This record gives sequence, structure tokens and C-alpha cells, in this order.
Amino acid sequence: MQHKTIIEPFRIKSVEPISVSTEAERTQYLKDAHYNPFLLRSDNVVIDFMTDSGTSAMSAKQWAGMMEGDEAYAGSRSWLRMEAEVRDLTGMPHILPTHQGRAAERIIYGHLGGPGKIFISNTHFDTTRANIEFSGATAIDIPIAENKDTALQHPFKGNMDVGELDRLLKEHKGNVGAVILTVTNNSGGGQPVSLANAEGVSAICKLHGVLFLLDCCRISENSWFIKHRENGMEELSYREIAQRMFALTDGAVMSAKKDALVNMGGFLALKDEALAEACINLLIITEGFATYGGLAGRDMEAIAIGLREIFDPSYLDYRIKSTLFLGKKLHELGVPLMLPIGGHAVYVDAKKLHPHIPPHAYPGQALVGELYILGGIRTVEIGSVMFGTYNADGTLKPAPMELVRLAIPRRVYTQSHIEYVIETFAEIMKRCEQVRGLRITKEPKFLRHFTAHFEPLK
Ligand code: F0G
Repeated sequence: MQHKTIIEPFRIKSVEPISVSTEAERTQYLKDAHYNPFLLRSDNVVIDFMTDSGTSAMSAKQWAGMMEGDEAYAGSRSWLRMEAEVRDLTGMPHILPTHQGRAAERIIYGHLGGPGKIFISNTHFDTTRANIEFSGATAIDIPIAENKDTALQHPFKGNMDVGELDRLLKEHKGNVGAVILTVTNNSGGGQPVSLANAEGVSAICKLHGVLFLLDCCRISENSWFIKHRENGMEELSYREIAQRMFALTDGAVMSAKKDALVNMGGFLALKDEALAEACINLLIITEGFATYGGLAGRDMEAIAIGLREIFDPSYLDYRIKSTLFLGKKLHELGVPLMLPIGGHAVYVDAKKLHPHIPPHAYPGQALVGELYILGGIRTVEIGSVMFGTYNADGTLKPAPMELVRLAIPRRVYTQSHIEYVIETFAEIMKRCEQVRGLRITKEPKFLRHFTAHFEPLK
């Protein structure tokens, strides 16, 4: 028999209590946090959909592996195990361990960047953009045009605009630091990228002699979409699909906190020896020696094991279908969403949900507050709070989209948690017209969404 019910393909062996608060308490907690979910205490959160990063539940095998961790400063057995796994997966000879994705980003983009340099991506993630801009370089996003229309169905809405890439590489000849393909396209709605698109990007980069890097932190989730949506891919395993994608590139940056199922870790994988040597020098200065890069031996053990588990077909099927289940139910309630539903998260189109709130009053941030007060659900705005900039006259230059992301931690929440979120949205839909926007009262220069303070508009 073909079951319709998606079951979690695991039993729960260890549990962590959730403290359930009241709406009145949460109203106060949110005020105390200046209406910024990053400033809430996690003890005051019921369902934490802020991120899928570093929030995975590790398997019994990974926990057992932690006890095997070799904490030697140099030549650790755990490092050799992780290095072998990453080499086997990526096909790259040079592997640098880092404590998380952005450490790898700082090293490679700090080295390749600098004033006058250009980086081009389907969409740079916020830390990627920040590391590039911090070096003095410019980051340009060129997702395909379909990506901007949240309601439009497209099997690979995370793709890069290959024609535009060719044009930009001609225009900026000699000044391009790298082309970065982010899979799945997180800031662009968690949408997948096809193998055909990666092939197109690879061919153009080769033609122009430009470095092509993969931001591969959700590579196995991306492989699920390729297997089920791209012609001729059905027979390949998820891992083989990932390996084909790596083979097209010159290197990869990974935050292991996503698709390696660990709470901390990352790596940089490179084909070119000279580039790897330059990066290893930077790694040793700020992260740690080349055989641990800021990670404990036990973390490296867990990464090596997680990188195998993540390609397990029953896990991946549950993962993508359970995200889809939440998306489908919200869609049925009439919640405007980024369609089709991506792999790690459901994205609400707050511009459509709150048409009465203009971008400079942050419609996404308003929804983030509502979800927290009504259900204790913590989410994150991916819109003008995260990506908005200011014009010369001080007015806001809004982000292209006003999204709110419900990112689902891997192997953590069960069906009943998801049902609770759906019930909260039913209430959100009843009162969305009365919701007020916010204004920013304090903000830093870079990555302002992490620490900005807000206040509701009267
Ligand atoms: N690239 C992408 C596509 C990411 O989603 C992230 C992190 C990073 C790089 C940086 O990795 O956090 O290990 O330093 N994304 C998290 C998120 C924070 O919530 O989406 P990191």
C-alpha cells in the first residue's frame, strides 16, 4: 500500500522540553526585545523557525561519533575522516575546515575581493554579501526573472540568469572575483537550481576564465529537486547528482550547520593548489591549524557522519515532503507564499499579506511579531529589514521582496508542531488587516537585522 501520511523516519531517543508561554507574556517579551526576534531568549520561544542552521537533531551515530573525536592539534584522526568524506563528495583535492560557513566566506572572499572587484550570484546570502562588501568589493544578484514573482510556478526558480551573467562578465572583464551559485537559493526563497543551469554557468565561467564557486550548504535538498524535476535525472542517486554539480565548479563553500546535520562547522573545498595555499595561510592566522580550523575533533567526526546521512533517500523524502505539507496547508488557508515551496523553509509574501503596510514600515517584520505573540513562533524577515538600503536623501530603498521565512530545523519538530503552526496562521489570516507596521529606532552599519531596535507605529 502507498501511504499518504509522511512519517518522521526516526524514533525520538532524547527530548528537550519546550516552555509554553501566554500571549500576554509574549507581548512583553517582544517589547523587551525591541520587536527584534534575534533579541528574544530562546527559552521564551515555543516553535523556533528562525533558522534551519545549526539546529538539527544529531543521530545516535553522530553522538556516538562525538565520543570517538580525536582532539589532537595536528593530524587528528577525526580531521582525516572529515577530509576524506568531503573529498569524496566534492571531488576537490584541497579541503579547509572552518568553524562555520561565514569563516570560509571571509577567507575566500577576503582573499579574492577588495575595492573594484565584482562578485555575481543567483542571490548572495546575507553573510556572503556582507563579507564581499566588507572587503570593498561589490555583490550583484542575478536570479532568473521568474524569481521575483512569488506566485509564479517554476521548477527551478533559484536559477541564475545565464544571459545576464555573460553580459556582466564582458562588462566587468578582469575585475570579477568569482561567480557564486547558491544551492538552494536561500535568500531567493529557498528555491532549487537545476543541473542544466549549473552547467550553463560553468560553461560561461570557463569561457571568460572566471572562478566558479558553489555555496553548497543545502546541496542534498537541492539534489532532491533535481532528481524529481529535471529530465534524465531519475536514475541517479541524490549523492551522484550532488557530485555532478560539484564537478562543474572550481570550489565550494559550505556551512555544515545545514546539510551536514551538525550544530557547528563548515569547510572550503578548492581545486586550485595556489588558491588553497593562500587560503590556508589566512585560515591559520584566524581560525586554527589546517587540520581543525576552529573545530573540535568531535565536531569533525559528526560532520563526516552527517554528510552521509543527509543523502539517505527516506530522510530526504521526509524532509522535502514535510516542508511541502506545511506550505500546502498554508496555501489552502489563503496565506500568500513564495511558490513553489522550497526545501528548508516556507516563505510568506508579507507584501501581499499586509498590502496596507508600505516597505518603509516593514510588513515582514510586522508578521514576525504577530506570529510570535499569537503562537510563540519565531521566524525571520527576509525583506527590507535585512536587505533594505538608504537613498542619498535618507529614504529607504526597499528590498525586491518582503518575505518572512519559516525555516524548519532538521529532524526536530513533529507533525503536531506543524499543525500548531497551521492553526496559528488561521488566526493570523483573520486579523491581518489590523496589523501595524514598525519603524527602526536604532541600527548598526552591517547586517542590521541582527541587532536593530524597532517600535510599532501608532
Ligand atoms: N550561505 C548560505 C546560503 C546560508 O544560508 C548561510 C547561513 C551561510 C552561507 C553562512 O553560513 O551561518 O554557517 O556562517 N544561513 C543561516 C540561515 C544563518 O539562517 O539561513 P554560517
